[in-house]
Amino acid sequence: MGTQRLFQQLKQLSPDAILGVMAKYRADTSPSKVDLGVGVYRDLSGNTPVLACVRRAEALVLAEQSTKSYVAAAGRAEFNSAVEELVLGVAHAVRRDRRARTSQTPGGCGALRVGAELIRAAAPAVTVYVSDPTWGNHASLLGSSGLTLERYPYYDAVAHTLRFDALLQRLDEAAPGDTVLIHACCHNPTGADLSPPQWSQVIELLQRRRLVPFLDLAYQGFGADLDADAAGIRRVAEQVPEALIAVSFSKNMGLYRERTGALIVIAENETRADAVMSHMLQIARSIYSMPPDHGAAIAARILADAGLKEEWIGELGAMRTRITDMRILLAQRLREVTGGGSFDFIGTQRGMFSLLGVSAAAVERLRDRHHIYMTSDSRMNLAGIMPDNVSYVAGAIAAELS
Ligand code: LMR
Repeated sequence: MGTQRLFQQLKQLSPDAILGVMAKYRADTSPSKVDLGVGVYRDLSGNTPVLACVRRAEALVLAEQSTKSYVAAAGRAEFNSAVEELVLGVAHAVRRDRRARTSQTPGGCGALRVGAELIRAAAPAVTVYVSDPTWGNHASLLGSSGLTLERYPYYDAVAHTLRFDALLQRLDEAAPGDTVLIHACCHNPTGADLSPPQWSQVIELLQRRRLVPFLDLAYQGFGADLDADAAGIRRVAEQVPEALIAVSFSKNMGLYRERTGALIVIAENETRADAVMSHMLQIARSIYSMPPDHGAAIAARILADAGLKEEWIGELGAMRTRITDMRILLAQRLREVTGGGSFDFIGTQRGMFSLLGVSAAAVERLRDRHHIYMTSDSRMNLAGIMPDNVSYVAGAIAAELS
């Protein structure tokens, strides 16, 4: 015992499923390499740009900043209130009734983790249901809090359709008080979202089974537009007594490394909401004390200034359109090279991702023979498709189909 080292028992872990692909892509020296891996937006030159509205807001923030002193465990008040407005809409009943409380967090990941800790503090025995499949990091972010995770059927990667009946059936077996993680829009990794009538059925089920929705909003503006992408959330928030919403500005403002997000919690009434907020702050304090300020200062500035906000909406629309165009183009090229419509779904799904629906072995061949990188579940980031690589990618996929 005396000679044993503290870290002796820790064995080398394999790299994270998504970040590992990012590292492999960076190490590849081939000029024809294509990055369909990590979920970041890319422009036509393959760059992940700093948005013009962000540059302008950042200059203002820096010019006006007079201190680096602490802000607060909840971050910036003006950011939190602007986020609530952006997500729930200006006149939402939960805001009018003072039932929502928002805390700035280190990215959407921070919001998911604080939310999980909050659920565990309130009810340690609840189960959190996540979609099958879901974003690779959901299980660690939520599960590390000690909560029990279960999966609900969501998507059939062979038929390329939602497994909606199976979803309803599974969630109908959940116990009252259990939590259901729902991707608010642009489902990661499938790109397949609930339709408005399906949202209605899910809301009915949440109410009837007294389940608590935990909505993950990481891609607001990448589906249709800012309001349409929050429509499901707003309807849920109208109908249920309690909900959690994890918000991220990584993608829609391109603030990735600035770790800019928020957790909105809706409680049954104002008094409960205040109590929940006190726990959110205590949890934040016990994990990271206070969120980083820079990204939130920029986001708050953009959301408060009509001109900057309009510029942002324009730039966000351009990112969305570029991805939609590439979806359509890739589906077309795949139709040409395969002589059939089995990849047409790529053209109609939403957000950054679609699941190609091929084996892990085919994904490996795409990487090793063609320098095309995606995660082993065959998730593609469509922002990595360019007019000048789309034919190459389609040809490689057709060659490696199995
Ligand atoms: C992704 O899904 O690739 C992104 O959200 C980046 C990440 O942190 O996994």
